[in-house]
This record gives sequence, structure tokens and C-alpha cells, in this order.
Amino acid sequence: MSKLWNRINDELKTRHDSKTYNHIKVLESPQGAQIEVGGRKFINMCSNNYLGFANNRAAVAAAKDALDEYGVGSGAVRSISGTQKCHIDFERKLAEFKGVEDVILVQSGFQANTALIPTITTADDAIISDELNHASIIDGVRLARAKKYVYKHADMEDLKVQIEKAKSEVSGIVLIITDGVFSMDGDIAPLDKIVELKEQYEDVYLAVDDAHGEGVFGSHGRGLVNHFGLDGRVEFEIGTLSKAFGIAGGFIGGKKELIDYLKQKARPFLFSTGLDSAMCGAGICIVDEMTRSDERVKKLWENAKYLQSGLKALGFDTWKTVSPITPVIVGEEAKATALTKALFDEGVLVSPIMFPTVAKGLARIRLMPSAAHSKDDLDEAIAKIKKCAEQLEII
Ligand SMILES: Cc1ncc(COP(=O)(O)O)c(C=O)c1O
Repeated sequence: MSKLWNRINDELKTRHDSKTYNHIKVLESPQGAQIEVGGRKFINMCSNNYLGFANNRAAVAAAKDALDEYGVGSGAVRSISGTQKCHIDFERKLAEFKGVEDVILVQSGFQANTALIPTITTADDAIISDELNHASIIDGVRLARAKKYVYKHADMEDLKVQIEKAKSEVSGIVLIITDGVFSMDGDIAPLDKIVELKEQYEDVYLAVDDAHGEGVFGSHGRGLVNHFGLDGRVEFEIGTLSKAFGIAGGFIGGKKELIDYLKQKARPFLFSTGLDSAMCGAGICIVDEMTRSDERVKKLWENAKYLQSGLKALGFDTWKTVSPITPVIVGEEAKATALTKALFDEGVLVSPIMFPTVAKGLARIRLMPSAAHSKDDLDEAIAKIKKCAEQLEII
């Protein structure tokens, strides 16, 4: 066998042997509070469908209407002949909702980071990234030619040290980049303090990836920047449509000239075909609904608080979360795998999160409540977590 196939097979074997191989589940129903796998019904505690829009009937109908109007494919990259009117309508709608001058849509939240970070920085610049930032930020930073710095998680003293260092080592701009809500722990970036700090310097700018903050924080789910009252003071707002918005796609919001510039220069925009019309049609319908009513956001928080207080009352440690993301710390990696499996057998789907995604000894299962869950769903999930954790001597 060649070196290539040896390498691939060795890695697969290592994962099987260490029980870290990811057996990817195939769902036989739409996303919702309950889903079907292998002909069985499960309580779904592991999707990012925060507001329950993924199978919203009005959004599905709007997607079908857009397909009828524009077809299934946009035909070319958007800069050649692939920009359809629905792209522009959706961008305008998102900009209004987010309270930014303009928005550029890209194919995913991941692509939004790879579109923004290398495009707005040069080899003369510095990027300072929170040590716990998402993989797509890390990859976006890797693609950039700027000098790279990492600051300790949410640590303002260290961020100041890194800004001073970067300022003395580069001649260009300094870009700070952070997740809004950190998806493994559920804690949030101290955006008020970061903005206060960066405004003390010239040419220090801030990008916030609000993938898990949109639909969750701020008025009607406008996101973490809005939650902190910082509208207009964060230069780059990165978003994904794949979580609370319930569809797929990503976007960047900011000043008009920024969006104009990205549409001329961002490689994922220039060299990859744009979102399909169904996503635009559904997206417009969902943003309209979010603007009209904040009932789903309220329900999400009610459910998150109910789930987290129920788990805490049983003695579980939900770690640093201040958002609906609900980690349940179990310690050893093997316990996280065993608890996930036991819950699967009981009909509850959760995701195990282990080293190297989180530090050794802090393995956990992660629960994602949504506005779609009923109290009965949550009660059943809590009762089954209790039963399985007791059997496994976790509590
Ligand atoms: C902070 C952050 N950015 C980007 C992404 C990727 O978003 P998408 O699934 O739209 O590519 C995620 C998803 O996990 C995320 O948590």
C-alpha cells in the first residue's frame, strides 16, 4: 500500500480503536424538537435550530415560491451572472434586521470568515484572535498574510498586551476577532470591554462572529452587538444562517463601502457559486417573522432556563454557560461517550464534546434547547439524563 492509503487507514483505525470515530447519524425526518433515526423517534437535543425555523411551513412555502420564480441554480458565481434579485432582496432585509448599512451573502458561516479575514488584511497588518475561536475563524486567519497573535480567552488584560505588541510590530491595521457566543462553553465575549479597549487606539478594528448569538441575544434576536448596545461600533459583523435562522448560508454586515469592497475582492464570493434561491426565499420569510415577533426568542430563553435549572437541581455542572448552549460536564472522555450512547438507547440525541475540542478532563455532553421543545420534551430529556448518569455513576 502507498504512503497515502497507509496514512488514511491508520488514522481511521486509531479513531475506531480509541472509540472517537464519529458514526454520522442519518436523519429520516426534518429538524425539530423530535427527529427520526433508524425508524425510531428521538428527542433532539443537538441541533442549532434555536428558533425552530428549520421546518417552518411558511419558510418552506417561501422557499418553494422562490424555486418557482428563480429555479434551482443561480448559474454562475455571483460576480459573473449569478446574482439574482432574491440575493439582493435578502441582503437588504438582513441589513435592516441587523441595523448595518449593508450585507454580503456567502455560502456558509464558515465561508464568511474565509471571505472577510484574508480580504481585509495585508502582510503589513496584525490579527489578534481569542484562543477559543471557532475553526472557521482559525482557518480564515490562516489564509491571511497578516502577523498573527492569540489572546487568552476573553482576557482583556492579555488582549491589551497583544494590541500593544502588535502595534509595535506592524505598520498597518490591527484586527481583533472573536466569537460572540462560544459554542463549546456557552459563554460570551465581553464585547463592551473589547470595544472600549479598541477605541483607545487608532486603526484597531473588531470583527465578531455571532453564529450562536443571532436569534438568541438582542432585541428580536438581532445578536450580541445589539445586546450590548454597540450597534455601529463593531466594524465587521459575521453571521451564519444555519443556526437560529434555520437554513444555510453566511453573511458579513458592515459599512456600505466594506460590502462593496468584499463584492469586488472576497475569493469565496468571486470564485464560488452563490446561495440558491430557496435559501433566499426562506430567509426573507424568516427574517420578516423575526422582525414581526420575538415570541420564539422568549420561548427559547424560557426553555433554556428551564433545562439548565432542572439539570443544576440534580447536581449537574453546566459550566460557564450564559446562553442556551448547555454543557453538562462529565469529566473523562469515556464517560461522555458512554452517556451519549446510553441516552441514544433511551431515545435522546445529544452530542459528546471531548479533547481536543475541549481540555482533557472537561469532556461533556452538550444540549441545545430550542423554541420548538415543549416542557414535556425537556422533562423527559432531564429524567433520562438523570437515569443514565446514575447508572454510569456520573452523579
Ligand atoms: C462561531 C461559528 N462560526 C461559523 C460557523 C459555521 O457556520 P456554518 O455552519 O454556516 O458554516 C459556526 C458553526 O458551528 C460557528 O459556531
